Amino acid sequence: MATDSLTITDNRTGKTYEIPILYGTFPTYGAAIRSADLRQIKVSDDDFGLMGYDPAFMNTASCKSAITHIDGERGILRYRGYPIEQLAEQSNYLEVAYLLIHGELPSKAQHDEWVHNITHHTMVHENLKKFTDGFHYDAHPMGMMVSTLAALSTFYPASKRVTEADNRKLEIYRLIGKAITLGAMTYRHTKGLPYVSPDNDLSYTGNFMNMLWKMAEVKYRPNPILEKALDVLFILHADHEQNCSTNAMRSVGSSQSDPYCAAAGGTAALYGPLHGGANEQVLRMLRTIGSKDKIPQFIQDVKDRKALLMGFGHRVYKNYDPRARIIKRLAEQVFEVTGKNPLLEMALELERIALEDEFFVKRKLYPNVDFYSGIIYEAMGFPTDYFTVLFMIPRMSGWLAQWQEMITDTEQKIARPRQVYTGVAIRDFEPIEKRNKK
Ligand code: SDX
Repeated sequence: MATDSLTITDNRTGKTYEIPILYGTFPTYGAAIRSADLRQIKVSDDDFGLMGYDPAFMNTASCKSAITHIDGERGILRYRGYPIEQLAEQSNYLEVAYLLIHGELPSKAQHDEWVHNITHHTMVHENLKKFTDGFHYDAHPMGMMVSTLAALSTFYPASKRVTEADNRKLEIYRLIGKAITLGAMTYRHTKGLPYVSPDNDLSYTGNFMNMLWKMAEVKYRPNPILEKALDVLFILHADHEQNCSTNAMRSVGSSQSDPYCAAAGGTAALYGPLHGGANEQVLRMLRTIGSKDKIPQFIQDVKDRKALLMGFGHRVYKNYDPRARIIKRLAEQVFEVTGKNPLLEMALELERIALEDEFFVKRKLYPNVDFYSGIIYEAMGFPTDYFTVLFMIPRMSGWLAQWQEMITDTEQKIARPRQVYTGVAIRDFEPIEKRNKK
């Protein structure tokens, strides 16, 4: 009997089955069986065979991936094996985007070519400006981003040729390059300000700041502290293995839809308040609480299931999200420039109380990436409903890395889950006059 296997006895038939166990890089964390191997377990020849039932994929590996590893119990996050703390400290966002997509850190020549190509793909077709003008002045920026990303696909019909490596490469340049341009356009539209063209002299985040905040000055000069802080925030948000929006990106991409529409799907998933929309909800929650003395009552409301502690909890992290720890430190640097956000004190007090309270400790609820990021974004001058755009822009590189890994994985095909059908087996149609309904 192989040791790396399960022996399953089906008590309905008395039969036993040997199911091989697969391992990832961390044998104690990522061992799996092929669900397809369960299909042989039947009670009769016409039996479909066993499936795994797993609502919300709480314990289902949808793919093999070499991009990002999270160890939730230990609060570990690594991109291609590099600890997030080292990348945040020593790298920059575009270099991290290269690492996620190519699997290795770039040489100087590779880095310069990568930066050049992305920098020269930041402009968008003028019609995208007319498209953006069509939104109402108070349209939510994420609703605008979902739409403009999908609209962008209509300008690049060749992007459908997803199996051709050269095409994927060009679309990856375009999507990373144009993410900051589209993001800035949604911001300027809601402010009633003219759109600002990219400035290729600036860094990726400096150029983004230029397109957001340039006014009448001849040349925009980004504040280097804010530029660096935004770049670190982009690194922290770049990828996070098989989260909800990445699952959407992979699923839409698995039908060989183009990467713009797949990214629109990822953006739509990220928009939700339980996912990327949480950073916006944290600020709304802090405002609703109003003051430190109201925190105990809010905590009680959470325990009574009347509210969620937004920015807390995580499907994978059952320890402190390492990104939240870095963002918390980053806040001090930003506040030196912007002035302290008074909401920080309330957030710190909320965290202090929650981390001592049995309700949260028992459920292993810790601050996640969204708990402190919004406080920084607000101090930088971003409106609350724009925070998730600041999550989506850097996550574009992670989505594209995951999408490309899916497209090139010979084991992958169109995503099509099964179900356990619990509806009516069969019945005959009744004409409306014969239905005894009120
Ligand atoms: C992101 O997946 C990723 O990697 C996502 C992300 C990424 O980078 O892509 O990390 C980004 O989405 C971070 C999460 C942002 N969302 C929020 O901050 C919203 C608030 N958090 C929760 O909605 C919740 O924690 C989730 C959605 C994040 C995780 O939910 P799970 O894993 O489905 O956990 P669960 O709902 O099963 O909760 C377990 C228990 C439950 O209590 P019981 O019913 O067992 O008594 O904890 C409770 C939950 O009610 N709980 C919370 C809570 N989160 C979970 N109670 C109060 N406040 C919370 N925030």
